[in-house]
Amino acid sequence: MASTIDDLYTTGLANAHALENQAVQMLSRQAERLENYPELAQRMREHIEESRRHAARLDEILRARGSAPSALKDVGQSIIGSLAAMTHAAAQDEVLKNSFANYAFEHYEIAAYRSLLVLADAVGDAWGMKLLRESLAEEERMAQWIADHLEPTTRTYMRLAATGQKAGV
Ligand SMILES: [Fe+2]
Repeated sequence: MASTIDDLYTTGLANAHALENQAVQMLSRQAERLENYPELAQRMREHIEESRRHAARLDEILRARGSAPSALKDVGQSIIGSLAAMTHAAAQDEVLKNSFANYAFEHYEIAAYRSLLVLADAVGDAWGMKLLRESLAEEERMAQWIADHLEPTTRTYMRLAATGQKAGV
């Protein structure tokens, strides 16, 4: 059965909405464990708020198009999300593995928004494109921040581990 471009766009918006909810859950779990990395914890808390706003924007776009994410259900988005915090929780190098996973997750989101922009353009949703671009820019900034902090995070991890302190989180 053929899908209209409108359907594809709506599905993409709903998937991105689920992805943002996943981001909020994943980062919340990580942030509450990050005792020894206050700068990371602070940036994560900021991105949790950004991710909530991203979800709200997607919600607005969906509503403007006559559908609500609650009606579509957040399905099939257990991808990297819960995996990250759960599988790494017991690892000695939890903070490093989480940084790698978060870097990957932000790029998944970046790819999703870039794809959504193509669909939004195809259906002529200029207002939606403006909102999507705002979220995309914040995802790109977060990805860059994670990249920039891989080195200091690894150094802190080494220092804590070398002095016998809790280095994982
Ligand atoms: Fe994000």
